[in-house]
Amino acid sequence: MNQIELIRALPKAELHVHIEGTFEPELMFAIAQRNQIQIPYQSVEEVKQAYNFHNLQSFLDIYYAGANVLVHEQDFYDLAWAYFEKCAEDRVVHTEMFFDPQTHTERGVEFATVLAGLKRACTDAKEKLGISSQLIMCFLRHLSEEKAFETLEQALPFKDDIIAIGLDSSEVGHPPSKFERVFTKAREAGFLIVAHAGEEGPPEYIWEALDLLKVNRIDHGVRSEEDERLMTRLIAEKMPLTVCPLSNLKLCVVKDMGEHNIRRLLQKGVHVTVNSDDPSYFGGYMNDNFIAIQEALALSHDELKQLAINSFEASFISDEEKQKWIEEIKAI
Ligand code: HPA
Ligand code: ZN
Repeated sequence: MNQIELIRALPKAELHVHIEGTFEPELMFAIAQRNQIQIPYQSVEEVKQAYNFHNLQSFLDIYYAGANVLVHEQDFYDLAWAYFEKCAEDRVVHTEMFFDPQTHTERGVEFATVLAGLKRACTDAKEKLGISSQLIMCFLRHLSEEKAFETLEQALPFKDDIIAIGLDSSEVGHPPSKFERVFTKAREAGFLIVAHAGEEGPPEYIWEALDLLKVNRIDHGVRSEEDERLMTRLIAEKMPLTVCPLSNLKLCVVKDMGEHNIRRLLQKGVHVTVNSDDPSYFGGYMNDNFIAIQEALALSHDELKQLAINSFEASFISDEEKQKWIEEIKAI
C-alpha cells in the first residue's frame, strides 16, 4: 500500500471544521435562488476566483458574506449533509463541527433553527452513513464579551446537543483574555472548551487559552514553536493541536507547504492532528490536507498512522470508541 492509499484507507476523526466553511459555491447558488437572496457573483467560477486570500481577515469577509444566504432549517441541514457526504468519501468516521450562531442570529435567524438543521443532519449521518458527530458552538471574538454571554444563554436550553464551546474569527487584537469570564461560565455549565489560538496570533494567546480559558484542545496553535517553554508545556500535558495545513497555506500563515511545521511538531512529541478548517474555501477536505502534507513533507507510514491515531485520542468520544478505532488503524 502506498502513502496515498494508506491515507484513503485510514479511519480519521475531524476536529476542526467550520460548517459554514464547507459551503460549496454550487450549493450557495442553489440556496440563494431558493431564498431569493442576491449574491454578488454571476457564476460558480466567479465565486471561486474571489477565493484568493492574503490573511485571515480577507477570508473572513467573504466567508461571512457567503453565510448570509442560510435562513431556513433546511438550509442548515443541506449544508451539513453535503459535508457528511465528503466525510464518507474521505473515511472521516467521526467529526466535531464548529458552528457560528452569531453569524446567523445577528441577521435575525433563530438559534433553534440553526441547531435543528445541523442536528437533523447529524442524526441522518449516523443512520445512513455510519458517521458519528458532535457540535461545537463558537463565539465570534471580534464581537463583544456581552454578545458572547447572550449567545451562551441561548445555548443553555440545548446543552445536551452541544459538546463544547470554542472561539473563532479575527484573532489578532482579540485575545482569549477578552472572554475569560464567559468561558468560566461555560465550563461551570459543563461544556468542554476549545479555542483558536496561535494561527496568526502570538504564543501569548496560546498561554491565555490554556491558563485563562482552560481549553481541552488548541485550534491551530502552529505558532507555539516560537516559544520553547510553551512547547514543553504542550508536550507534557499532551495538549492536542488541531492543525489545518491547506488553511495555513491559503491564509499565508506559511508561504509554501514545504515550510509547514506539522511534521516537526509531531517529531518533537506535540499531539498534532490534521483537519480541513474551511474546506470549500481552502481547496480541500480531510484527505486533500493529508495528501498535501504527504507530498510536501514526505511523511512515513508510521507518521500518517500516528496522525490518524492522534485524531481519535484528541476527540471527545468515549475511551472504548477511541480504542476501537486505534486498533483498527494499527491493524492496517
Ligand atoms: N480562524 C479563525 N476563525 C475562523 C477560521 C479560522 O481559521 N475559519 C472560520 N472562522
Ligand atoms: Zn478554524
